[in-house]
Amino acid sequence: MSYFPAFFDLKGKAAIVLGATPVALERVRLALAAGATVRLFANELSPEARLVVASPGVAWLPGDPARDDFERAALAFVATGDCRRDRALATAAREAGVPVNVVDQPERSDFIMPAIVRRGDVAIGISTGGASPALARLIREKIERVLPARLGDLARFAAKLRDRIKALFPKPAERRDLWQRLIEGPCGEAVLAGRPAEAQRHLLALLNRRAETRAEAGVVHIVGAGPGDPDLLTLRALQLLQQADVVFYDELIGPEILDSARREAERVYVGKQKGRHSHEQVEINGALLAAARAGKRVVRLKGGDPFIFGRGGEEAEFLAQHGVEAIVVPGITAALGCAAAVGIPLTHRDHANSVTFVSGHGRDGAPLADWDGLARKDRTIVVYMGLSAAAAVSSRLVAAGLSPATPVAIVARGTRRDQRLSLGTLRELPDLAQRHADGGPALIIVGEVAALANRNLVENPSLEAAA
Ligand SMILES: C[S@@+](CC[C@H](N)C(=O)[O-])C[C@H]1O[C@@H](n2cnc3c(N)ncnc32)[C@H](O)[C@@H]1O
Repeated sequence: MSYFPAFFDLKGKAAIVLGATPVALERVRLALAAGATVRLFANELSPEARLVVASPGVAWLPGDPARDDFERAALAFVATGDCRRDRALATAAREAGVPVNVVDQPERSDFIMPAIVRRGDVAIGISTGGASPALARLIREKIERVLPARLGDLARFAAKLRDRIKALFPKPAERRDLWQRLIEGPCGEAVLAGRPAEAQRHLLALLNRRAETRAEAGVVHIVGAGPGDPDLLTLRALQLLQQADVVFYDELIGPEILDSARREAERVYVGKQKGRHSHEQVEINGALLAAARAGKRVVRLKGGDPFIFGRGGEEAEFLAQHGVEAIVVPGITAALGCAAAVGIPLTHRDHANSVTFVSGHGRDGAPLADWDGLARKDRTIVVYMGLSAAAAVSSRLVAAGLSPATPVAIVARGTRRDQRLSLGTLRELPDLAQRHADGGPALIIVGEVAALANRNLVENPSLEAAA
């Protein structure tokens, strides 16, 4: 390690910034965020610099600092954009005994600036010892992706409790155990999910249960995994997968997404195929409950969004009835993912002012929804699970008044590498659907907007033209 990592306390102290270049302004912002006052020395200010200089805590001073300006400062940052001037100012700062950082010149600096990941008061500094700022940035991006956005809230929450917990639990080992349960359990989860009232409730339960040493009821995260492309996972989904002890996943979850889960996490397949008996949902519910009660970090991973034809609502209800909290993390539903992947805007000022998501079959294969109310020229209809009902969808919509020439698109395995797009008309829908039979999950998009699909993505354009 070529540099000593440390965090300076700058609260109420002065930092000197020399120059008004974009890097210099970045240093001003950082110093202000750490509670310092800033004296910025520069002869000219850009419009952006004027805005920064107008911030409370910043004083702009033309010309160069005198020795006592340096002596009164805790740190100096040099970034004038002129190497020779930078060198001279760095020497002056050093002679006055103030630690100095010169941008892009580690050999003239007493300290270097790390790449920083910030979440409120939580700060992570990354240094490669000056070897490669690009590598430090890459590491920062990776860390940014896995750290929850509300980590700073969790730090604040913990800070407020410190004294109270110290008084309640004088023994350090007990205190450590409590902190771990608080931060890693449902209480911390609720803070990270932005639910402060729930966090308070969990906190009280946790403090009370300590005396009784009962196990906690647990939490299940019901997480939407998006339509298939692993890059369409949300950051929250990724973070939860990386913390999970057990992941229950269904048939729409591909191996690449599953690979994002923590290596040690147990993976349990609970996929259901259409038409399978409903008691299997009962088994899934039971397995979720048992895992949560065993104190595991449970992720129930569902394709698309859990609340769009995903039975997430039923699972959440069941868990709540049994005293286990379900936190739902939304995902990109197939309609949005597939439409974007093939260039179909689901609404468009010239073609569609509403969009309806509908299932091709009702509960336990019951008859289709009432399509009469859906058939409007200025509406887009997205049919989930509709391939086997394509003939009925087509005939009912035509009977309800839609033109047989209305454009339709079928997107199979949307957003995945083997995505397939077919285009045609409502009249041709049954034939188009036949071609997709047994080809993985598929959506039917009906409406004028389907004609706007990117034709370059059609797998076999000659077939489409003949149709
Ligand atoms: C049980 S539903 C689940 C929907 C999911 N919760 C969502 O929000 O996308 C399954 C149906 O979603 C559609 N679907 C899911 N992923 C898809 C994909 N990648 N491409 C096309 N259709 C998809 C298909 O119609 C499939 O039969």
